[in-house]
Amino acid sequence: EQVPLAPTPPMGWSSWNKFAEKIDDRTIRAMADAMVSSGLRDAGYVHVNIDDGWQGTRGPDGGIRPNANFPDMKALADYVHAKGLKLGIYSSQGPRTCAGFEGSYGHVQQDAQTFADWGVDYLKYDLCSGEYFYADADTVKRSYAEMGAALKATGRPFLYSLCEYGRFDVGSWGRQVGAHLWRTTGDITDDYATMARIGFDKNGKPGHAGPNGFNDPDMLEVGNGGMSDVEYATHMTLWAMSAAPLLMGHDLRETSPAMLRLLENRDVIAVDQDAKGVQGKAVREEGALEIWSKPLADGSVALALFNRGDASAKMDARAADAGFAAITAARDLWRGQSVAADALTFDVPSHGAVMLRVEGK
Ligand code: DGJ
Repeated sequence: EQVPLAPTPPMGWSSWNKFAEKIDDRTIRAMADAMVSSGLRDAGYVHVNIDDGWQGTRGPDGGIRPNANFPDMKALADYVHAKGLKLGIYSSQGPRTCAGFEGSYGHVQQDAQTFADWGVDYLKYDLCSGEYFYADADTVKRSYAEMGAALKATGRPFLYSLCEYGRFDVGSWGRQVGAHLWRTTGDITDDYATMARIGFDKNGKPGHAGPNGFNDPDMLEVGNGGMSDVEYATHMTLWAMSAAPLLMGHDLRETSPAMLRLLENRDVIAVDQDAKGVQGKAVREEGALEIWSKPLADGSVALALFNRGDASAKMDARAADAGFAAITAARDLWRGQSVAADALTFDVPSHGAVMLRVEGK
């Protein structure tokens, strides 16, 4: 049973995409600092998540201890909390995590309690080593339920994030095991082809997403340098249209002004964070061109025109795409200006996107 802690998709940062297991207390604190000074916290990014690589060995009582890079987890949680942020941590159900660190196997309740004692607010629970990786759907589901129950039993509110890569139709049972988000794909990498494959083609079913339970097509690569500015804007557009968790994955100390504009665009964030919690989807496809629609709580509709092709293309937004007989008002969210409702034709560059919020009747 789920605790309703994620009415909208979680927003924050995670260490994995940029740092992998090369993380330490100092870096995590620096990210918390940068989250505040950059304005990202105030734009809604509040989770600071330590991914794989923090674990040391177990103590005589079996309790998990951080490695030497993390001298005091409770102090780190206090530091993060004092900045108005939340601390996330990572574990895995097998004896080893994907990066070879100590997993929670045989210590599920104990680890949940340790995380609660440290003041952790969020757990990402992976699926890697040992019997679990090769297990059947029921076993994996049971294991996720066990941790979900253990987190709940601590009495501390935890956001619970599953990471079984969409192998076992996780969207159909994620809520039952207490999760608020669940990965639906393999790992993202910092290139357009992978981002597009994951975001357009591999994400979970829209019907599984909604307030307190979201499909997670993996963390953002915005700002890591492997895509063009146009492609990163498409990445943000696609994640926002998908009501995906927005977990940044770059070095926050080095966010360029252009990337900050992408990450902090209030209109785009509002689409992702819309209270209706609907995961948008393609409503019209013409070869490499996809028109996506996401109904919003106030009756307006977000539309995105995606050009997945290698040449620029003319694309138009139509009333029918939004389920209207006529569009009465439109705003271009990346340009930050309204556009005439009867002139919704755009030149969309290769790999680019136009994102609109339209009203209609
Ligand atoms: C696999 C996950 O998909 C990644 O996001 C990351 O958590 C790594 N495991 C850590 O080992």
